[in-house]
Amino acid sequence: MSFAQFETNYEESKVPEFNLPDPLTNFAGEKITTSADWVKKRRPELFEFFENKVYGKVPNDLDSMSFKLLEENTNALNGKARRKQVEVTLVKNKKSISFTILIYLPKDISAAPIFMGYNFFGNHSITTDSNVIISDAWSMNSEAMSINEHRFTEASRGLRAHRWAIDKIIAGGFGLATIYYGEIDPDKHDFTDGIHSLFYTDAQENPETHEWGSIAAWAFGLSRAMDYFEQDEHINAKKVVVFGHSRLGKASLWAGASDERFAGVISNNSGCGGAALSKRKFGETLNVINTSFPHWFCKNFKKYNNNEEALPVDQHELLALIAPRPLYVASAQDDQWADPKGEFLSAYHASKVYALYEKKGISSTQMPPVNSPIHKTVSYHIRTGKHDVTDYDWEQYVIWASSFLN
Ligand code: GCU
Repeated sequence: MSFAQFETNYEESKVPEFNLPDPLTNFAGEKITTSADWVKKRRPELFEFFENKVYGKVPNDLDSMSFKLLEENTNALNGKARRKQVEVTLVKNKKSISFTILIYLPKDISAAPIFMGYNFFGNHSITTDSNVIISDAWSMNSEAMSINEHRFTEASRGLRAHRWAIDKIIAGGFGLATIYYGEIDPDKHDFTDGIHSLFYTDAQENPETHEWGSIAAWAFGLSRAMDYFEQDEHINAKKVVVFGHSRLGKASLWAGASDERFAGVISNNSGCGGAALSKRKFGETLNVINTSFPHWFCKNFKKYNNNEEALPVDQHELLALIAPRPLYVASAQDDQWADPKGEFLSAYHASKVYALYEKKGISSTQMPPVNSPIHKTVSYHIRTGKHDVTDYDWEQYVIWASSFLN
């Protein structure tokens, strides 16, 4: 993907002046001063805006869903973990799709808290464990991942293991659940397949302008996984932290905002349309993202291409929708495309909603130095290095999640 045709600003001095909407003033201009008023008068209108104008609305309910345990082993990861592979089937209008959740759980905990998040290249890519089933779903081709002809093979097993610190997660007393995101909706500008296609009436081939793009579809899939966790005796469904990197961090934020069952939310380098403030127009902008990835957001969102001033919300208000549940926003120093400062300021400006609940967040507009995490109910770090998920990131997530889940 080339972004060469777009002008990208990477200079702080060229960030435009902008008015950031106040999460604590509603669209009618009324000040919100209590958590009760936030819930009654502000949260619903913000949620509705993000639902109809940004990510898109899920058109309807499923007709049914079912779970099938494909495989279970109590001696996985050198005896340290229980592994399960569960197939979830979603049914609507006599059509169905299935996805597989790969789950590792610490053996010594009867109902474990877990991190859950999508992977980019198949469940088998996150570990060298030879028992992980290879998905037959469509994938983007990738030389680095040994994927040709849009299908996974044995060649990509374990190639993304460095992004998933499974040993640290299990040792920290957490389980890990992951799904290949392409099993919910293939990441291409084609709405005839994936979960969207189940909901169409007649010859429809595209969602309506206010209906779900791919990010909302992926968030929907995370909620269906949550439906499964609620009936798995080995998982504590009240202690599920939803995690996502990059485009999948955008999805984890929307999942956390739209499904209050998630106990905590992690945005790892989610950038534009995720944690970063759009009105800064730093790094990736709305015009760029909606042009390069026209399927990610609902069509209504394109109205704000090169027109961020007209947006009555910004992404700090997406973060605020997660309040009062713990939220972690993480950036990387060399990931300027995702605008680390915009991600940080977004966490800062969301914190005033947390304050209504007497929860602590980011209290200064001064960014912390690299590798100096701030761990509060709203947490933030910027680490050295590039756009990625590293052991450092996971170490922070485990420490932070332990503070409210263990
Ligand atoms: C592109 C895109 C980002 C996205 C990233 C990713 O860089 O512009 O918005 O976060 O891909 O998902 O890796």
